[in-house]
Amino acid sequence: MRLLTSAAAIAAAILLPVSANAADAPVQVTLDASKPGAVIDRHIFGQFAEHLGSGIYGGIWVGKDSTIPNTRGIRNDVVAALKELKVPDVRWPGGCFADEYNWRRGVGPERKAAVNSNWGGVVEPNTFGTDEFMDFAQQVGTEAYVSVNLGSGTAQEAAEWLEYMTSSTDDAMGAERAKNGHAAPYKVAILGLGNESWDCGGGMSPDFYVSEMKRFSRFLHNYNPAQPMKRVAVGPNGADTSYTDAVMKAWKGHTWAWDIEGLSLHSYSTGGWPPHLPGTGFDEKDYAVLLKESIGMDDLVKTHSAIMDKYDPEKKVALVVDEWGAWLAPTPGSNPGFLVQQNSQRDAVLAALNINIFARHADRVRMANIAQMINVLQAMILTDKDKMLLTPTYHVFHMYVPFQDATSLPVAFDAGTYTAGGVTLPRVDAIAAKDKAGKVWIAVTNIDAKQPATFSIALGGVKATKASGQTLSAPKIDSVNTFDAPNTVAPKAISAKIANGKLSVTVAPASVTVLGLEP
Ligand code: AHR
Repeated sequence: MRLLTSAAAIAAAILLPVSANAADAPVQVTLDASKPGAVIDRHIFGQFAEHLGSGIYGGIWVGKDSTIPNTRGIRNDVVAALKELKVPDVRWPGGCFADEYNWRRGVGPERKAAVNSNWGGVVEPNTFGTDEFMDFAQQVGTEAYVSVNLGSGTAQEAAEWLEYMTSSTDDAMGAERAKNGHAAPYKVAILGLGNESWDCGGGMSPDFYVSEMKRFSRFLHNYNPAQPMKRVAVGPNGADTSYTDAVMKAWKGHTWAWDIEGLSLHSYSTGGWPPHLPGTGFDEKDYAVLLKESIGMDDLVKTHSAIMDKYDPEKKVALVVDEWGAWLAPTPGSNPGFLVQQNSQRDAVLAALNINIFARHADRVRMANIAQMINVLQAMILTDKDKMLLTPTYHVFHMYVPFQDATSLPVAFDAGTYTAGGVTLPRVDAIAAKDKAGKVWIAVTNIDAKQPATFSIALGGVKATKASGQTLSAPKIDSVNTFDAPNTVAPKAISAKIANGKLSVTVAPASVTVLGLEP
């Protein structure tokens, strides 16, 4: 076993070549609370809601006259479930949708319909627009991450949108907002300067994008002093470093006239393109294939961070992984343009592994947004008319709430290996952190789909007599929650013994567990 102490070495532990643990031997973990690392920004638990399929209409918005219980048209059940997650921010209105969005059609008493050319060519009624999104954000208690149209729109249109959202009523745009029923300026915490400009956002070369981005950064003003606003530039598509290099190089030479606080990274776990891995009914090989690809996120973060370090050694610009998650084959019978997929225990493990990667790189990865929040891709919540269910991924986000804004603590362990269908990946994963109240939390993931895992965690001087928390496992790796059986995959209480400064816990195959240490 390797005992690593520096934060960087700990970050690498899971991916270093390691000797295989015998599946029945305890995984020896060493916690070092004396060397706290970076704060795990709560914004790595961000969400993404695009006008796509029933991500908005049906998922959030049902309209004021709906028989589904709602507050000003927004589903009460969905808001209540999201509040439990303490969602730090929601990215809206897209995605590819954002770069064709005309915000003017979505405000005021007369909404103007459009065609959603990106997602199924369906009618976009624009009944859920800026004021409804801000109302939703307020009901959930989350921050607004608004992505402006840099692709097909002008800087002036985007500037006026920001003016509409953030100015006082002395300004004509602020007065228009007041006329629409909202006198107080909204808070825009994060502004996205385009989306995937290398592809659906306009197929721009890195240099062309940089020129456009500078103009948008220069002319889009936040007029609400109550809310500092961070700007996120379009960054890399997966492993391609051309945008990373161009944007960061430009940033290094930036003047007073423009600035950014974040660089976006998009990377989905797909198992090949176009996505073809099924959401249910898959075998252990497909389980391993998708998870192996997904932990490649660690390499991506390292690759882009190294370039960012070159231009920004003080880490002023955050790496913002604002689209990540599993992108699977569409559920049979669904509209392929709606990106509907089921969410299994495999997705729960995938979510935990990615959150752990972000947490290990907390000094640079300070925001992330899983795609997407409701009814689309790796969703937290699925709805069908008046019914709603919480997915296994939702449960992981809920279990990880204590890690929001907690300070990471190094853990060293030998991950061992797990092989299925010829695919080899680490057998386990673990992270630890101390919350603001001083309580230490440990998250362990058993990737092995067949064997349980016992963790023996040396607490390194942290005084605790017991540990308790929740564990998420399932009858099968492809177990899902359905509207008829919504609790097939649900967390259960778990407690662990602590003796002689060591915590010992045995967890199920393919499971995620979060434990808090107690005096
Ligand atoms: O999340 C679905 C789509 O994936 C987004 O609209 C786009 O940004 C990405 O390609």
